[in-house]
Amino acid sequence: MVLVSAKEMIEKAHEGHYAIPAFNTNNLEWTKCILQACEEAKSPVIIQASEGAAKYMGGYKMVVDLVKDLHDSMGITVPVALHLDHGSYEGAKACIEAGFTSVMFDGSHYDFEENLEKSKDIISLAHSLGISVECEVGGIGGTEDGVTSNGELADPNECAQIAGLGVDFLAAGIGNIHGKYPENWAGLNFERLDEIDKAVNGKPLVLHGGSGIPFDQVAKAIEMGVSKINVNTELQLVFAAATRKYVEEGKDLEGKGYDPRKLLKPGCDAIVEKAKELIKAFGSENKA
Ligand code: 13P
Repeated sequence: MVLVSAKEMIEKAHEGHYAIPAFNTNNLEWTKCILQACEEAKSPVIIQASEGAAKYMGGYKMVVDLVKDLHDSMGITVPVALHLDHGSYEGAKACIEAGFTSVMFDGSHYDFEENLEKSKDIISLAHSLGISVECEVGGIGGTEDGVTSNGELADPNECAQIAGLGVDFLAAGIGNIHGKYPENWAGLNFERLDEIDKAVNGKPLVLHGGSGIPFDQVAKAIEMGVSKINVNTELQLVFAAATRKYVEEGKDLEGKGYDPRKLLKPGCDAIVEKAKELIKAFGSENKA
């Protein structure tokens, strides 16, 4: 099989005290750059797409084909999992059908009992096919795909119940926020992370909102049980900045600088560079 489930790579990371980077993809360029960076750094990787990004790209099947085909044509040798990010109940089922090798079911906006029931369904369906599952307890904060959650800290007791269902890894709010962190951000709540880690009894944890967290906090979170770190915004920011610089310098007006292969190159190079920097910070370099 070309793409793998995320279970094994995350369990290894958990034992080895590093974290697997889970980079969100948006299109062909993002997917290529993420694969290139991880191959060069010899890092296992989770490429993930939100439902909105998958729709933008043409649908779940398109995302599966894109990642599989690039994996083959680029001769990628590091383990690659394709994961649905913040999936709905229906979306998770559709991605399981379409060939994703990992899915997140995010039932954090339901009553806890309903979250538990729906998580159980998705776990049993996915596991029957060897697909890994991430579930979520409590809000994470910020805005993702137009959905804003209030950033509450996850309840350790609820985390224990979801962990007890046999979920492979668990997203739990510890003060992390999607998007740019505000100036007055309080930082990660390590007290809560410790309580959750103890409550889930060694289940690997997922840190959403991985863009812009100071690296000393990242390292501490990994030491305390975080084994998957999600990054979306940071790659978008470096791509946008490099593209703006190219245009502001008038490079698109010189020669054939308007050719998309030239116009998008500085942004792509910036994605590769930033992804490699994060891989180093997460400790997954040379772990493939
Ligand atoms: P950022 O956009 O803040 O990096 O968060 C990504 C994420 O958590 C995706 O689920």
